[in-house]
Amino acid sequence: MSRDVLSTRLVHHRVAPLRRVPDLAEDARMGLMERPRWLPPKYFYDARGSQLFEAICDTPEYYPTRAEAAVLAAESRRVIERVRPAHIIELGSGSARKTRCLLAACDALGVHPRYWPFEVSTQIMIDSAEQLIADYDWLHVEAMSGDYTAGLAHLPLPAEAARRLFVFLGGTLGNFDPAQADAFMAEIVALMGPGDALLIGLDRVKDVAVLEAAYDDAAGYTAAFNKNVLNVLNRTLDGDISPDLYRHQAVFNRPLSRIEMRLIAEQPHRVHLEALGRGFDMAAGESILTEISRKFSRDDIASLLARAGLREAEHFEYGTGDYSLVLAVPDV
Ligand code: SAH
Ligand code: AVI
Repeated sequence: MSRDVLSTRLVHHRVAPLRRVPDLAEDARMGLMERPRWLPPKYFYDARGSQLFEAICDTPEYYPTRAEAAVLAAESRRVIERVRPAHIIELGSGSARKTRCLLAACDALGVHPRYWPFEVSTQIMIDSAEQLIADYDWLHVEAMSGDYTAGLAHLPLPAEAARRLFVFLGGTLGNFDPAQADAFMAEIVALMGPGDALLIGLDRVKDVAVLEAAYDDAAGYTAAFNKNVLNVLNRTLDGDISPDLYRHQAVFNRPLSRIEMRLIAEQPHRVHLEALGRGFDMAAGESILTEISRKFSRDDIASLLARAGLREAEHFEYGTGDYSLVLAVPDV
């Protein structure tokens, strides 16, 4: 763990992993050599991947950002009035553009929490933190860079005595499989005291055409985001993969209620990853599963929270159940 004071109101903490998690070399050795091939989604978010994600959020097809932004615009005041947080801790904050609704509500209500974003993509977090402290003269940001899959219990957070609002937006919990999601929720809840709350965004099951279009926008930002993970592999593991040999695919797996994003090889070729000292053959039509994005029913959300030991304090819905933003508190 190291700490850099970037300005009087911005501190950058580099969070060392609490437990060892595989690095890209180990994940590639496991996931790419296995059939079907897979990679964890956290590697999408290098500087370019984070920019592409922002572009996805602005496409007409990718409704989750707009849905969540609309709910936050309408309900942030209610959330802040209810929790009156001394600290806001956000997991996977990205550009924090929607978090601004919460901070604007804080500003309007004269509630002045400290903000603790936790991100694997450091630059986007620092850039957004600099903008936020410029916009709110009362705001102090404790930016934490690291991998949230490597643990939460050791984060340099304020004591439970202060009221804390944990925030996990964008439907990002859906990028975990059910067991990982339960384990992650349990880690969040383990941090929470009686006065704390969790604000979590979860995408809902809906028409397949709407879901699949959201993950395959016409402008091609999602395809570029998906293929960019091959650039990350090339750069980090000294690889020779040509992204042009792959096509982006996003399909809704109804039984598992999840979008599955894949990269499909369009022709047979050999891949070499120098840092692993090995290569592998991709057949035409063979795929790499790069992301799952689970879609929940209202009942799924209720049981997810109950299993975590949380109770819904507020359940805000966008449209006719298209997106959920839930304020949950420990069920004591
Ligand atoms: N909360 C934002 C961003 C969602 S995109 C929104 O709702 O728009 C998911 C974010 O989680 C990205 O910014 C990504 O860099 C971050 N992220 C993904 N895996 C992570 C990990 N293992 N540890 C920390 N941050 C992670
Ligand atoms: C961050 N996460 C919730 C996004 C999602 O919708 O699953 C990532 C994403 N992948 C493709 N488009 C957006």
